[in-house]
Amino acid sequence: MYPIMKNQEIAEDVHEIWVKAPHIARNAQPGQFVIIRTNETGERVPLTISRVVGSTIRIIFMKVGKTTHALAAIPETGYIEDIVGPLGKPSEIAYYGTVAIVGGGVGIASTPYLAKALKAAENRVVGILGARTAGLLILENEMADICDELHIGTDDGSKGYHGFAVDLLRTLINTEPVHAVWIIGQTIMMKVTSEATREMGIKTFVSLNPIMVDGTGMCGACRCTVDGKTKFACVDGPDFDAHTVDFDTLMQRQQMYHELELESFEAWKAAEGEKP
Ligand SMILES: Cc1cc2nc3c(=O)[nH]c(=O)nc-3n(C[C@H](O)[C@H](O)[C@H](O)COP(=O)(O)OP(=O)(O)OC[C@H]3O[C@@H](n4cnc5c(N)ncnc54)[C@H](O)[C@@H]3O)c2cc1C
Ligand code: FES
Repeated sequence: MYPIMKNQEIAEDVHEIWVKAPHIARNAQPGQFVIIRTNETGERVPLTISRVVGSTIRIIFMKVGKTTHALAAIPETGYIEDIVGPLGKPSEIAYYGTVAIVGGGVGIASTPYLAKALKAAENRVVGILGARTAGLLILENEMADICDELHIGTDDGSKGYHGFAVDLLRTLINTEPVHAVWIIGQTIMMKVTSEATREMGIKTFVSLNPIMVDGTGMCGACRCTVDGKTKFACVDGPDFDAHTVDFDTLMQRQQMYHELELESFEAWKAAEGEKP
């Protein structure tokens, strides 16, 4: 059982939870994730380790279905049944020169931990954060404190640049040399944004988020096609070279269980509604 130290809504339907998990906190590195189960019969859900302080880890997630709603509903005096981690390969932290970190939506959750490590490796770090609207923008102050430069954009123009993060990235790479780029967000956002760096041959990483079950390379649920080969995102990733990822197959696979997920969410909502 893992005690929740803090649980707060930081944007519409986006929760920040701090959990005491000493063995994970001791071993975690940027780019890695955990798999949680909210209760004994719960499904296993992967979530990125967003920050580590002492013996606690932070996860930030959007309420999209049954488990993320159930997780958000656990009070600060409550517990998470199981947490497995840290899982996956850490991001490739090294000195590159100038690096850009592009976070979209709840994908921004991963960016401060990564930015801090890249900064410690003496890179010049430029952050680019994009959200649909100002109310969904998270961790802006935290990123502003870490990055040498921070650019903000919103799809509806309610804060910063009016448009997509890819435009901000294009402007940056056309203005100065950028030696490596990380893009973390929804699959379609990673697909479109990574096109900006392809022609210029800039090393670009994306953090893939296929459906996962065991997180240890055994079940095959998270298989992706990378450079024409089958890879398991949970053990071979989740970071991959963006220019070799087959994003279209990944998006198809993410939708495979859509009907069942909806059914399970509706059943959960009905059961919750029956509680006194
Ligand atoms: C390595 C990894 C790290 C992740 N980190 C985060 C994070 O830090 N914060 C966060 O909010 N989410 C993260 N996700 C996505 C998160 O795991 C899903 O949102 C979650 O599994 C949904 O569970 P659910 O039961 O609430 O919804 P479900 O009912 O299972 O799904 C609801 C909707 O979410 C989509 N979905 C389901 N699983 C995934 C998935 N793995 N990735 C993307 N969409 C999915 C479904 O297609 C469906 O449309 C991560 C995924 C991976 C693989
Ligand atoms: S989640 Fe089972 S192989 Fe990756």
